[in-house]
Amino acid sequence: MLGTFTYCNPTKLYFGEGAVKHLSDELPKYGKNVVLVYGGGSIKKNGIYDTVVRILKENGKTVVEIAGVMPNPTLEKLYEGIGIARKAHAELILAVGGGSVCDYAKALSVSVCCEEDPWEKYYVRFEEPTCKIVPVGCVLTMAGTGSEMNAGAVITNHAAKRKIGHVFESETVMPRFSVLDPAYTLTLPRYQMIAGIYDIFNHICEQYFSGEDDNTSDYLSEGLMRSLLHGSRIAAKDTQDMEARSNIMWTATWALNTLVACGKSTDWMVHMLGQAVGAYTDATHGMTLAAVSLPYYRHILPYGLKKFVRFAENVWNVDPAGKTDEEIANAGLDAMKRWMKELGLAMNITELGATPDMIEGIADATLVMDGGYKVLTREEIVKILRESL
Ligand code: NZQ
Ligand code: ZN
Repeated sequence: MLGTFTYCNPTKLYFGEGAVKHLSDELPKYGKNVVLVYGGGSIKKNGIYDTVVRILKENGKTVVEIAGVMPNPTLEKLYEGIGIARKAHAELILAVGGGSVCDYAKALSVSVCCEEDPWEKYYVRFEEPTCKIVPVGCVLTMAGTGSEMNAGAVITNHAAKRKIGHVFESETVMPRFSVLDPAYTLTLPRYQMIAGIYDIFNHICEQYFSGEDDNTSDYLSEGLMRSLLHGSRIAAKDTQDMEARSNIMWTATWALNTLVACGKSTDWMVHMLGQAVGAYTDATHGMTLAAVSLPYYRHILPYGLKKFVRFAENVWNVDPAGKTDEEIANAGLDAMKRWMKELGLAMNITELGATPDMIEGIADATLVMDGGYKVLTREEIVKILRESL
C-alpha cells in the first residue's frame, strides 16, 4: 500500500429495520427549523413521509418542505431551494429519498449561506465552501450512490448541458447521520433497483482499477464485489428478499464512503462518460454507467492488464488454466457482461435516448480524469462513445 492518505468519516449510521426511530436521538442536537427535502412522491405512497413527519412533530420541530427533487437534481431546483431554506432559517436539512435527494440536500447545505453563485463556485471552479454549512441528515430509500455517507453532490445544469459532481474535500459536508432501513428500499421499482446495483458495482470498479501496488483497499473491494454479485442474483429473482436487499444497502455505503479509495489514485472515467450521457439524455444514473462500461473497460484493458486478470480470477472465478493473460482478462469482462444482461441493465446508450449526432457534444461534456490506467484523448472518448451506441 504505497499511497498516503487521510481518512475521516463522521457520518453516524443507524442501520436495520425500524432504524428511523433513531431520528429522535439525533433531532434534539439541532435547532427548531428543519427543512424536509424529498422527491417526486414515493415517500408519500409508501408511508415513510408520515412516519418522518410524525417524529419531527414529536420532537417539536418547525418543518418547511422542499418537495419534487427530481432524479438528477437540477440547478434551477437548487436555486429554488436556496430561497426556501433561507426564508425558513434552516438549522437542519433532512433528506428523505435516494441519492438525488441526499445530493441535493448537500448542495443546498453549502449554498444557503453562500453569497456567490453555487454553480460557478462549486461546479465550475470546484472551490470548497467558505460559508457556514447547514447540517444534513438523511433517511435513505434507495441503495446505490453512497451519498448517505460521503461528501459528493451531483447537479445537472440543463442550460449548459452539463452534469457535474463535486466531491467536497471537507468531511463537514458529509451527512451528520443517516438512517438506513433496507425495508424502505422494497418499494423501489425493479429498474431503479438494478440501476442502483450497477452503480454500486461501478463505484467499486472505479477505485479498484487504478494502481499496481499490493493494496488492502483492493482486497476489500473484491469482497464487496463478491457480496454484491451474490445479493444481486438473489434480489433479481426475488426483489422482496430482505437479506439480499440488506446486504446490497450496506455494500452501497461501503462502496463509496471513501474507505476503498484509501491509498488509491482512482479512475472515475466510467462516471465521467456516464454523467456526460446523462447531461444529454437525463437517463437513470446507474444505466448510463452500465451502457458505457464494457467499451471503456475493453479499451483500457491492455493498460491495466494485471488488474483485469486479478479481477477475472478473484471476482468472477475465471479459471486461468491454459489461458493467456489477455484471455483471462477478457473472460472476466465476458462474465461481467453475462451478469449485466442477467440483471437486465442497459447495454448501450441508444436505448437511453442518445443519438449519433450527440456524440461530439457528449465528448465535450466528458471531464478527463488522470487516476486510471489510461488518460483518454478526445479521439478515444469519441471512439468509446460510438462503441456504446
Ligand atoms: O422521487 P421519488 O418519488 O422519491 O422516486 C425516486 C426516483 O424516481 C425513486 N425512489 C427512490 N426510493 C424509492 C423510490 N421509489 C419507490 N420506493 C422507494 N423506496 O427512484 C427514482 C430514482 O431516485 P434517485 O434518488 O434519482 O436515484 P439514485 O439513488 O440512483 O440517485 C441518483 C443521483 O445521485 C447521483 C447521480 O448522478 C444522480 O444524480 N450520484 C451521487 C453520488 C454521490 N453523492 O457520491 C455518486 C453517484 O455516482 C451518483 O453520481
Ligand atoms: Zn455512481
